Amino acid sequence: MKERLVIFDTTLRDGEQSPGASMTKEEKIRVARQLERMKVDVIEAGFAAASPGDFDAIYGIAEVIKDSTVCSLARANENDIRRAGEAIKPARSGRIHTFIATSPIHMEKKLRMTPDQVVEQAVKAIGWAREYTSDIEFSAEDAGRSEIDFLCRIFDAVIKAGATTINVPDTVGYNLPGQFAETIKQLIARVPDADKVVWSVHCHNDLGLAVANSLAAVLVGARQVECTINGLGERAGNASLEEIVMAVRTRADIFPVETGIDTTQIVPASKLVSQVTGYPVQPNKAVVGANAFAHESGIHQDGVLKHRETYEIMRAQDVGWTQNKLVLGKHSGRNAFKSRLAELGIELPSEEVLNAAFARFKELADKKHEIFDEDLQALISDETVTPEDEHYKLVYSRVCSETGETPEAMVSLAVGGVEQKADATGGGPVDATFKAIEAMAKSGSELLLYSVNAITTGTDAQGEVTVRLSRGGRIVNGNGADTDIVIASAKAYLNALNKLHSSSEKLNPQGDV
Ligand code: KIV
Ligand code: ZN
Repeated sequence: MKERLVIFDTTLRDGEQSPGASMTKEEKIRVARQLERMKVDVIEAGFAAASPGDFDAIYGIAEVIKDSTVCSLARANENDIRRAGEAIKPARSGRIHTFIATSPIHMEKKLRMTPDQVVEQAVKAIGWAREYTSDIEFSAEDAGRSEIDFLCRIFDAVIKAGATTINVPDTVGYNLPGQFAETIKQLIARVPDADKVVWSVHCHNDLGLAVANSLAAVLVGARQVECTINGLGERAGNASLEEIVMAVRTRADIFPVETGIDTTQIVPASKLVSQVTGYPVQPNKAVVGANAFAHESGIHQDGVLKHRETYEIMRAQDVGWTQNKLVLGKHSGRNAFKSRLAELGIELPSEEVLNAAFARFKELADKKHEIFDEDLQALISDETVTPEDEHYKLVYSRVCSETGETPEAMVSLAVGGVEQKADATGGGPVDATFKAIEAMAKSGSELLLYSVNAITTGTDAQGEVTVRLSRGGRIVNGNGADTDIVIASAKAYLNALNKLHSSSEKLNPQGDV
């Protein structure tokens, strides 16, 4: 029997720290349901003290998730821990994950605390957390640049205080696989009662080594890996869940562990996270990239046709690539629509929202005869924008684009319920449309990114557009989908403007004490 490798997914917390990747409560619940369907052991649902919105999302996830442990991050202070404890209260299985920095540079320059004070605070934090749950994880932030003797000291203290998982983060992605494995090995050998806790790693990808470092740690005794879907996360991101899980499974000859993950749910999870965060997946991304199982060269194609394993070490269907089949068409009824949504883990908040979504599904089915799961996901993303979120709403748009002529756009918006119209010209129809919208919204934001992807194949596919806007240091991503890419672009731009308009600033857990 192999030992279990605990998969701790932090897409909803560290992943959400990627610029502009913030998700609404409904989106987070959809992602959490998909993680549960994939049989993730622990879902880090957020940082409860960051904002009332984060607290609500964790609470909502704790109410609906039954098969995975739901966790909230908390700095090692009483307020954060009490907020985390309250947020996970409805969970069938809840964890508090508390952390404090342990590297000389973080203790001196960021915390302005002595090592003794840091140990004392960490021990107090475990005490507060124990009032809510016995499942307590402690992280030594920036462990990758901390002194090993100090790590042994603080881990010994928090284990005695009641921590049950000890996490060793390479917060700035500085470590190399051999060196990181040596640190983990020494910690497990030197910390008293090391065998009473689960050793965990949390690696960032600044040098592109997050997965390699995590796997090296597993080979010497780490039994929990913290990771994210598509490797999303602060700066260059975290170790990607799909790569960790498939490496452990594909090289079962090397790893003494196995995960409980249903790997066929990996691609649907990747697509969902990409869609709700607006972070496209690069085509050559391992496991979940569009080309991950595509063979371009004739020699490879020939080899695969003769014997798949000549060039493939994993089967596309094992990670969920074949799941996205034709699901519905224009003759499908409301019940078929509702039950397919349920199979995708989507529960709409009311009959009214379901009816509106069904009406949009019918409109889409008139334009596009074959509706796939991805089309439904995109449609629901549009539908779950509640009226309060929708300060700017597209009423009408028309573009005129002709060879040799300057493209023109005429757009009509409802701004706070009041209809306005504007015309503009631009370098192309999308540029003209954005200028017309800006003439009314006057947001003063800067466009950082514009990207279009076809959701499915065929020229009738919906275009999925991502727009990233920045204003006063805040960055938001907006998404929109439509068979007309100019309309998809307008929707994405308005979605980003609505996020800038409605969402308030939230605390970054690692930004301050
Ligand atoms: O990177 C990091 O150190 C973290 C901790 C809060 C675990 O995200
Ligand atoms: Zn992190």
